Amino acid sequence: MKTSSKRCVGASVARVDAFEKLTGAARYVDDLTRPGLLHAVTLRSSVAHARLKGLIFDPAFPWHECVIVQAQDIPGKNGVPFLQDDQPFLAQDFIRHPQEPVALIAHPDRAAAYEALKHVSIDCEALPPVFDARDSKTCFKEIRLEKGDCARAFSESAFVVEGDYSLPHQEHAYIETQGALAYWEDDALCVTGSLQCPYYVLKALKAAIALPEHSLRVIQAATGGGFGGKEDYPNIIFGHAALLAYKAKRPVKLVYDRLEDMAATTKRHPAFIRLKTGLDREGRLLAQEAELLLDGGAYSTLSPVVLSRAVVHATGPYHCPNVRVRGRAAATNTPPNGAFRGFGAPQALFAVELHWEAIARKTGLDAVELRRKNALRPGSSTTTGQELKESVGALAVLDAALKKSRYARTRAQFTRHNGNPKSKTLKGVGLSLTHHGAGFTGGGELHLDSRAAVSLSADGTIRVLAGSTEIGQGSKTALTQICAQALGVPFHWICVENPDTSKVPDSGPTVASRTTMVVGGLVRQAALELKERLADFPGALASLKSLKAAARTLCIDGGPLRLEARYAPPEGFVWNETTYRGDAYAAYGFAATIVELEIDKATAETRVLKLTTAHEFGRAVNPLLAEGQIAGGALQGLGYALLEHAVFAKGSMLNGQLTNYMIPAATDAPPMEIVIVDSPTPHGPFGAKGLGELPMNGPAPAVAAAVHHATGRIFRALPIRPEDILPHLSNP
Ligand code: MOS
Repeated sequence: MKTSSKRCVGASVARVDAFEKLTGAARYVDDLTRPGLLHAVTLRSSVAHARLKGLIFDPAFPWHECVIVQAQDIPGKNGVPFLQDDQPFLAQDFIRHPQEPVALIAHPDRAAAYEALKHVSIDCEALPPVFDARDSKTCFKEIRLEKGDCARAFSESAFVVEGDYSLPHQEHAYIETQGALAYWEDDALCVTGSLQCPYYVLKALKAAIALPEHSLRVIQAATGGGFGGKEDYPNIIFGHAALLAYKAKRPVKLVYDRLEDMAATTKRHPAFIRLKTGLDREGRLLAQEAELLLDGGAYSTLSPVVLSRAVVHATGPYHCPNVRVRGRAAATNTPPNGAFRGFGAPQALFAVELHWEAIARKTGLDAVELRRKNALRPGSSTTTGQELKESVGALAVLDAALKKSRYARTRAQFTRHNGNPKSKTLKGVGLSLTHHGAGFTGGGELHLDSRAAVSLSADGTIRVLAGSTEIGQGSKTALTQICAQALGVPFHWICVENPDTSKVPDSGPTVASRTTMVVGGLVRQAALELKERLADFPGALASLKSLKAAARTLCIDGGPLRLEARYAPPEGFVWNETTYRGDAYAAYGFAATIVELEIDKATAETRVLKLTTAHEFGRAVNPLLAEGQIAGGALQGLGYALLEHAVFAKGSMLNGQLTNYMIPAATDAPPMEIVIVDSPTPHGPFGAKGLGELPMNGPAPAVAAAVHHATGRIFRALPIRPEDILPHLSNP
């Protein structure tokens, strides 16, 4: 125990939530119930754009058995508080997408609640909808970023390469659908369920219900995955459950089935990206221009911040003296698009990385060497003019991945294979080099003002108090390890409080690859303060018995001793929100990903043979959990590249089922080789940077590059399906 405690960070300790999840003891929202429970359902608009005139209730239906909430029943403000408060909890005068919630109905019997939906219709007057972001006249946000003089640099370039890329919706497909349970306890309205950001939900409840903060409580239930999909949507579904419970004075449960979840909740933003790149004769970048358009859907929700990350990542992990990026997020009449692992970066980096294939073709230079020549290194200045001082792993991950996969040898072998007319398949190997900024972009972290605490109770229990949520990524385990390491005590001495807004401080949302780096940093700081308090009690951290003795003295009046840390930006960090210049992130992670695949010449079916990836994210707090994050993100990226195709018509997803929206299953996972490259950052606890999103960025462009190698054709839109490839195989 002693030795493992000393090396807690960096050790692959077992997940602290493994037992409850393996045995089924963990309680998800749909496992929960309360006496007198009502089941809720949502009446949705079904039209994409309309003026709402009213609801028509079938007089023959026993409505007295139901509790109904419409816009006029909302005691507070009918606008979900977010970056822009444009999204109503319930449609009031206008309907802006086909899944817009119009009314909520609760009934003691779940089937009866669904039956009630059939007896109410919506009276509305249709308005012209917009389904293509390129036709939209409503822009949620525009961001421009400029560095140097692009016009002059293009005129001096030996090569100028242009290309258009387009990215589709992507469904989160978390294992547990969204849901909330609202109930009254001790005069407080409590809502529990599946979520990433308890304090976002608390703010939404305060707006909708208009009760003081101490009368509202948000508690995380065990959560089966989020991937960004439970960043903003819980504001709505928790709000709905709370509105019903408030009116009914009874507990109300609202859980979506898969159909409703896929139809109504957010997706990854579709994107249209145009790139123009200027290089000198040796292949050094002289100018990079990017034009991005994101399809935001009906309300702005997270589009401005997804756009912001897309803009900052739109030139890739490269140094270029002249840059011009213009990004816009436009409104369409589909359900709002939102956060999804990577948050704009996977879209931008797909374009940037696949563009190297076009550049290599035009210049005759090697796509890997081009990257090596231009990759960020210590001393480089990023797109936003941020000077990278240390822990810049771009070249290290590139070399590690190339070596591990024996890239050059494989490439030559595949080229020979493809030249043989007897081969039944075409083989390709492709690479991508990607980065990801950890934490909120620009001044975001400062604005969040996050806090986390460590407490010591009279009985000797050490608790981590943070609003960060365990959503499968392992945050509970990572925060435990960080706390144990800072105190120098065994891992099992620490417990992590379940996120409950009446018990934990606001640590900011569990998003943006920020939990380990930012919140972990606060936990470390709070733990070090506790350690200092215990300095007067020699041996207190050496045995549980002496810790208990110290705790009894320190916990006066029986209450726990609580040490809280508050976020402060790294020294000297500057960010200008208007010009988009400055230090965009405290640290960037880097990944190089190599995909080997084969395409059946007869059917164009693509099979990924192997994925090799090297990741640098400072330092792995828990290498096994980190590998899990990387493998999961890689598979999600392969799905994005090859399988996932959300078919939309009139603003609605037509294939909103897991039977016809294909995601990769475990059996689709290729063999993966994962290399973790160490490069500690001074900006994270024990050197750690964020990791959650980085693994999602690289696979898709590496797949497209491999398809280019195999077929000689650059497919600039995802997904790349057999039906897209086949016509180009039979008629080369
Ligand atoms: Mo995340 S996509 O920042 O929830």
